[in-house]
Amino acid sequence: MSDTKPRDVWEERYRASTVWTGKVNAHLTDWLGGPPQVRPGTAIDLGCGEGGDAIWLASLGWRVTGVDFAQAAIDRARVAARAKGLDVTWVVADLTEWAPHHRADLVTVSFVHEPEHIRAAVWRAAARAVADPGTLLVTGHAPDVDGAPGPPTDTRFTVDEVLAVLGEPWRAEVREVRRVGTGHHAGHAVTDVVMSLTR
Ligand SMILES: C[S@@+](CC[C@H](N)C(=O)[O-])C[C@H]1O[C@@H](n2cnc3c(N)ncnc32)[C@H](O)[C@@H]1O
Repeated sequence: MSDTKPRDVWEERYRASTVWTGKVNAHLTDWLGGPPQVRPGTAIDLGCGEGGDAIWLASLGWRVTGVDFAQAAIDRARVAARAKGLDVTWVVADLTEWAPHHRADLVTVSFVHEPEHIRAAVWRAAARAVADPGTLLVTGHAPDVDGAPGPPTDTRFTVDEVLAVLGEPWRAEVREVRRVGTGHHAGHAVTDVVMSLTR
């Protein structure tokens, strides 16, 4: 059995080349385009990768912190934000040990696919970082992807799993979104779990 740590795997992947498109996730733009009352405030993007979501939020006037345990991803995110003249706070940290310095109006966890106990710890940390009132947006691949490349099945999750981990006092708006994948999933039908949890 390999004892390679997830952090080392991600670090190596980001060091090898650019991994993501640099674009914002469609679920985040959908959400922000949804509730008419959403105004820029504070946001924290957990597992921010190369910063596509964090940078997009910052471009709309949000005060954003992006957190990821891969230094190479954060370095790339920092360069991308600077190139756009945007001020984003970047933090290199393992989310299973991370605690927020402040709570934020919006906390996002997008496509963080790790073993069950790790993803649960990440969601709990995310929940602790949400202001009251505030919103936690969790998105990820559902288990039933039609043979598309992507994270291993046991790292995918369901709406019920997230609800079971977070429990009260959240008001959940839940969607399972069926879409044609892009990037690594190009050409495949994929189902995403999209959850907006508000308190
Ligand atoms: C699939 S990528 C998603 C990146 C970005 N959220 C997006 O949607 O494009 C998952 C990210 O989570 C980060 N990650 C996974 N486990 C983590 C942990 N325990 N602490 C911090 N970051 C973690 C990885 O380094 C990676 O950048």
